[in-house]
Amino acid sequence: MKIFQHVTDIGDLGKALAEAQEVKRDRFQWQHLGRNKTALLIFFNNSLRTRLSTQKAAMNLGMNVIVLDVNQGAWKLETERGVIMDGDKSEHLLEAIPVMASYCDIIGVRSFARFESREDDYEEKILNQFIRYSGRPVFFMESATVHPLQAFADLITIAENWPLSNSPRGGEDSLSSEKGTKKTSGNEALPPTGGAGRGAGATLKVVLTWAPHPKALPQAVPNSFAEWMIAASQSLPLGGVGGGSPIDFVITHPEGYELDPQFVKGARVEYDQMKAFEGADFVYAKNWSCPGVTRPEDYGKVLHDYHTMMDWCVSARQMAVTNDAHFMHCLPVRRNMIVTDDVIEGPRSLVIPEAANREISAQVVLKRMLESLN
Ligand code: CP
Repeated sequence: MKIFQHVTDIGDLGKALAEAQEVKRDRFQWQHLGRNKTALLIFFNNSLRTRLSTQKAAMNLGMNVIVLDVNQGAWKLETERGVIMDGDKSEHLLEAIPVMASYCDIIGVRSFARFESREDDYEEKILNQFIRYSGRPVFFMESATVHPLQAFADLITIAENWPLSNSPRGGEDSLSSEKGTKKTSGNEALPPTGGAGRGAGATLKVVLTWAPHPKALPQAVPNSFAEWMIAASQSLPLGGVGGGSPIDFVITHPEGYELDPQFVKGARVEYDQMKAFEGADFVYAKNWSCPGVTRPEDYGKVLHDYHTMMDWCVSARQMAVTNDAHFMHCLPVRRNMIVTDDVIEGPRSLVIPEAANREISAQVVLKRMLESLN
């Protein structure tokens, strides 16, 4: 693996999930792969989970790790060609990238959307320069448009909590009579084949919901979550006896927040949040600003005063119409904006195991990149 950006970069999702469980079983078994190899993690933006989990994953693999916070201690970087550099930026990315690459074997980069130009953000102008000029494998630690390490961890978490139990939509072949039983041990992360536990043709309903936020946030997390859910629904080895899709993936948001078709093609959009939540097995909440799909001039904007949108905050009211859904969020989360205290603290909340799985998704990706070096 030379680039980790899209779901297609990880290949077969069933194999990737099985590999994630193998990592969980013994995360230190590949220390030989990382010996005398260095991961450089470059942050243009803040991070808690990505920084710690990726560093831990690299150390699990026996790698050395260098973390660079570009905006704290490094020279301010110019990213545009042709600029007369008479301002506060002392170094150009075009020199900085090959220099940084000379000190490492694999590069991870976090660089959020800047909201200055939709074209620049959606063309991944910064990350593509790292791919082009570093000569190293590059993995995206949240870029302008994608957050694949998060989406992979989300998929691992969903697979681990796949309901094998009786449910209103379950069939006679249900494996457990206890609703919501977690099946997380061994290699059980793979969803059951043949629709086990859900009846012939049964599907799992996963809902991605927009939620209010006071600031303009990028679309990277919902873009990747949608991309990975759609790929999972098309490729994972399950589905009913009738061969139906295993995942009914629904996106709900106020009008104007339509995500870019390159990520959500094939997904169902339901503008009525309560209707979308009906019968959901997993609820994934996230705020995002206007993606500029239907209104290019509004790209990166918050379309409504958040005070008027608080009924989109995920609470017991919405969760009551679900199929006792698990709650998910990538974190950090603003409580009582995105989700109420009781929901995030409730027994169906997966936010902590989801964050813990960031170490696993990062380790699978780094392991594959190391294997491609050796
Ligand atoms: N979910 C996530 O990427 O968290 P951080 O921004 O803290 O890295």
